[in-house]
Amino acid sequence: MTIVSGFSKLNRAQRIKYLVEHSKLNEDDGIGFGEFDAAGLEDQQVLSDMTENYLGNFPVPMGVVTNLVLNGVIISVPFVTEESSVVAAASKAAKFWASRGGFRAVVLSTIKKGQVHFTWNGKPETISALFPAIREKLILSVTDLTAKMRKRGGGITEIHLLNKTLELTDYYQIDVSFETAEAMGANFINSCLETFASVLRNIPELNSGEQKVEIILSILSNYTPDCRVKCHVECPVEDLAGWNKNLTGKAFAVKFKQAADIANLDASRAVTHNKGIFNGIDAVLVATGNDWRAASSSAHAYASREGRYKSLTWIDSSDQIFRYELELPLAIGTVGGITHIHPGVKRAMAMMNDPDARQLMMIAAASGLASNFSAVASLITTGIQEGHMRMHLTNILSQLNASQAEREYAVSHFQRNAISYAAVGDLIAQIRKEP
Ligand code: MEV
Repeated sequence: MTIVSGFSKLNRAQRIKYLVEHSKLNEDDGIGFGEFDAAGLEDQQVLSDMTENYLGNFPVPMGVVTNLVLNGVIISVPFVTEESSVVAAASKAAKFWASRGGFRAVVLSTIKKGQVHFTWNGKPETISALFPAIREKLILSVTDLTAKMRKRGGGITEIHLLNKTLELTDYYQIDVSFETAEAMGANFINSCLETFASVLRNIPELNSGEQKVEIILSILSNYTPDCRVKCHVECPVEDLAGWNKNLTGKAFAVKFKQAADIANLDASRAVTHNKGIFNGIDAVLVATGNDWRAASSSAHAYASREGRYKSLTWIDSSDQIFRYELELPLAIGTVGGITHIHPGVKRAMAMMNDPDARQLMMIAAASGLASNFSAVASLITTGIQEGHMRMHLTNILSQLNASQAEREYAVSHFQRNAISYAAVGDLIAQIRKEP
């Protein structure tokens, strides 16, 4: 295979032809790229403009978690996820908590940060002394860029010079805090930082004779510990009896607390526990066109803020009251990016009555807590596989190309029997041998 040039200039059919000629993809696969084209021409144009080297759409199902009571209001939350059991699990927890006070959430702060990383080979005292004047120049340089954001209550809230020369020769940061209102703000932040970089390069007092600013890089930080949301559920311990018929509320609470404590003290368990939180959060972030990679990176760094990876949840389960809490950084938005152009995102937002960014932070956090609560509650009672495999049964049947009649028979059979790949395979083989 030779290196290809100008691929992005090819049209869609030419790109697919190239792949058919240079890979295991066959002609039918190639034609298949059109299978999921949006019905409306305008929607299809939006999707094909969203990426370089566009080939086709790749559908992932959107489900809905109903009955999520958040701060006293019932919301239907769109979840986009490939994992079959995630919507069922979160829905079960949402319904369970709906009659127990629901989820309570609060946004703690909404500040995001970014840095210009640069070297300067002068004396640290000199740049420190010059910095108040430099700060004024920096702020002035982005007056136009920040005008719209300032109108919406956002903008730059702080600018500091950080001396890092003890860690790396001549290394400094301009550390900037931003309020980005309804936007996640990545483009706004990066544009401001790149403007700051060019200002720094051109300040005569820093760039004369041997002295010189060398910009290394300018970028937002996806670590957003000052953009945080907190969410909790709470009920009398005896009310927990409703989750599993074989456990009293007290027994459930004791076991749940043990599980939560283990996630707090053991990194191996904490990662999986936190992944269960992100089953819900990511599903909402994908549905609303938000950057779930940024949210995950930030939350996992936050989980390690004390020097050891821990769970993002906190539990207090005394004799009387069970309280389970989630606190995490979550930098998301409801404008910018693809939020107002992707047809699926528009529907997702409308389904939640068009929340603003702060409301969306709380909805995502509640969805994460619901997903995690359901997972842990299953783990300490029936085990996860029962529910998981029940939801996965349809995938296994699809993989085996089961007919409608075979599906119906299998679903009814596995209401009474344990589900595994092997068991489903055996059953379908048996039906096909003796229909
Ligand atoms: C699976 O997607 C998520 C769980 O592993 C989470 C957990 O273990 O808490 C069930």
